[in-house]
Formats: sequence, structure tokens, C-alpha cells
Amino acid sequence: MARFVPAERACGRATRPESSIAIRIRGLTKRYRRVTALDSLDLDVRAGEVLGFLGPNGAGKTTTIRLLLGLIRPTAGTAEIFGLDAQADKVAVHARVAYVPGEATLWPSLTGAESLELLARLQGQADLEYRNELLRRFDLDTTIRIRAYSKGNRQKVNLIAALASRADLLVLDEPTAGLDPVMEQAFRLSIREAAERGQTVFLSSHVLSEVEALCDRVAILRRGRLVEVGTLAQLRHLSALTVEATFPGPPPDVTGIAGVGAVAIAGRQLTCQVRGPVADLLAALAAARPDTLLSREPSLEELFLAIYGDPQDGSAADRDD
Ligand SMILES: Nc1ncnc2c1ncn2[C@@H]1O[C@H](COP(=O)(O)OP(=O)(O)OP(=O)(O)O)[C@@H](O)[C@H]1O
Ligand SMILES: [Mg+2]
Repeated sequence: MARFVPAERACGRATRPESSIAIRIRGLTKRYRRVTALDSLDLDVRAGEVLGFLGPNGAGKTTTIRLLLGLIRPTAGTAEIFGLDAQADKVAVHARVAYVPGEATLWPSLTGAESLELLARLQGQADLEYRNELLRRFDLDTTIRIRAYSKGNRQKVNLIAALASRADLLVLDEPTAGLDPVMEQAFRLSIREAAERGQTVFLSSHVLSEVEALCDRVAILRRGRLVEVGTLAQLRHLSALTVEATFPGPPPDVTGIAGVGAVAIAGRQLTCQVRGPVADLLAALAAARPDTLLSREPSLEELFLAIYGDPQDGSAADRDD
């Protein structure tokens, strides 16, 4: 039977030193015959951190997650979960991790309630009071058989089971694909609660607003390689500022100024991007006495399109190594 979570696990953050590492990945590599799905990944996730794990389709996110859970074997490298080896100590790792796969695979003939019971037993623990709260929050009717659930409702069964386990580490692979906006809010609330309890969350997602709302840091994969890791503020800083100005007459020529690119002129309006110090650009604009000046950081979409989208650079599937 599922049981309540032991007290010392219930107050995770207080019982662990602040500096402890939940996930330590070193040189983790997975090669298939024609494809390097993951290439020498190094990444640390602190205990209690919510990490967003991003990247275009085929970047290697699910591969990383499967390696973390010991579901597939690496070609090279190691992954440790709370100091335990993801391959050698698989069973001990599973006791501390709850996993929500991207595609919910459940037992079609069981009801929602039976599935939750079975998942709790597999997990080894469930906070039943919290699970009831989650069932209300996610508005899930558990009397229905899995095969009769919609995609979103099947996803909810897995999510509720993972959240109710109160596991030290939640590994979520696109957990909200298929959830409606109201349920997306329920998910965010639940992840915030998990973070407040000191649980660590490894969240693979394509929903940028979700990542922005929830994650302490983001790691971005492309073609199996880690291309960026940091807070969103840090990543924004790496990216160019957009500057827009209108002038009483023709805009000045700013094309030769260091760090300035993507210059576009439409009548009296100039739009450009600048990376690094802005003083030279500002001086050139000011000399032409602008009527209006607007400078803004890239939106999250612009930021990610810039990091993801490199026309020279396809997904791992396009390579032959
Ligand atoms: N069993 C396999 N055999 C061969 N290639 C595989 C296998 N599993 C994954 N790959 C390849 O590894 C690469 C990474 O796939 P992965 O599923 O990790 O991507 P992802 O980042 O999760 O993408 P998505 O956002 O679409 O879920 C892809 O090129 C994929 O085709
Ligand atoms: Mg995936």
C-alpha cells in the first residue's frame, strides 16, 4: 500500500546541505549507429534547483533523461543522482526519483485510481493527502479506464503520481504537452510547491513561458551538445539588444559601428541590434537628433530562436557520426 512520506523527506531542503548536488553529469555520450544523440554532456544540477532543459526536436533531451534514469546505457561518461551512479545504482536511484515520460504509457485496462495505486507502489511512497489535493486541482476523474482517457488526462495520471510521490528529484519530459491552459496553471503551482519543499526538478519543455515562470536556470542542447547554461537573465545578456529610433529626417548610417547588426531602415525609422557596449551607437543616433528611441531586450522567443536556429546546424538526426 502507498504510505505517507517519512518526515525527514518531507522537509527536503532543511535536511540537505545547500551546496549538495542532485545531478552530476560528466562526459555523458550516447551514440547510435548513425547518430550521436548526446555528445560529452557535462552538467550539474543543485539540490532544490528547478532546471529547464531545452532544445529543438532531436537535440538529445529525452536521451539524456533516459540515461539519467538508467533506462539506456551510455556509450561513454557518467551520471550521478544524489551521489549514486545512474547505471550501477539504478534501484537506489529510482527510490529518490519520480519520472514523467513525454508519452504516457499506462495500462489501458486499469482505471485512473488503480493506475495511481500501482504507480505509488512502484515508486514506493505516496503522500495520499497531497494526492487527493492534486486530483481536485487537476480535476481528474479516476473512475475511468486509461484507454478511455483523453491524452491530457492520461498525462495527468502520470503527473499526479510523480508529484504525490514527493520524490527528491522530479524528472519531467515535456510534462505539459497536451494539458490545457487551466491545467498548465495547476502544473505551475505544483512545481512551485515542489521547489518550496526543496525537491529538485529537471524539466524538459518546449513551453518557453513555462520555463520562464518556473526555472532557476536553463540548459540548452543542440545537436546533442550543451550550447548554453545559465539563468534567463544571463542568457539574455549574451544576446543582442534591439534598438529602434525615429528621426526628423533620414536616419544616420550606423552600419560600420562595432557590435551593430541587422540594420533596417524604413522611412525615418531605424531598427538595429547591438551586442556589447552601446556608447558608439548611441553617439551616432544622438548626433542625428532622434525624435524617439526605444531599446529592449530580446523577448524569450527571440532569444531562443537565436540560440536554437542556426541554418547551418540541423538536429542530431541530420548528422552521420
Ligand atoms: N533508439 C534510437 N536509435 C537511433 N537513434 C535514436 C534513438 N533514440 C534517439 N535517437 C536519435 O537521437 C537524437 C536525439 O533524440 P531525443 O529523443 O533525445 O531528442 P529530444 O531532444 O528529446 O527531441 P524532442 O524535442 O523531439 O523530444 C535524435 O536524432 C533521435 O533520432
Ligand atoms: Mg524528447
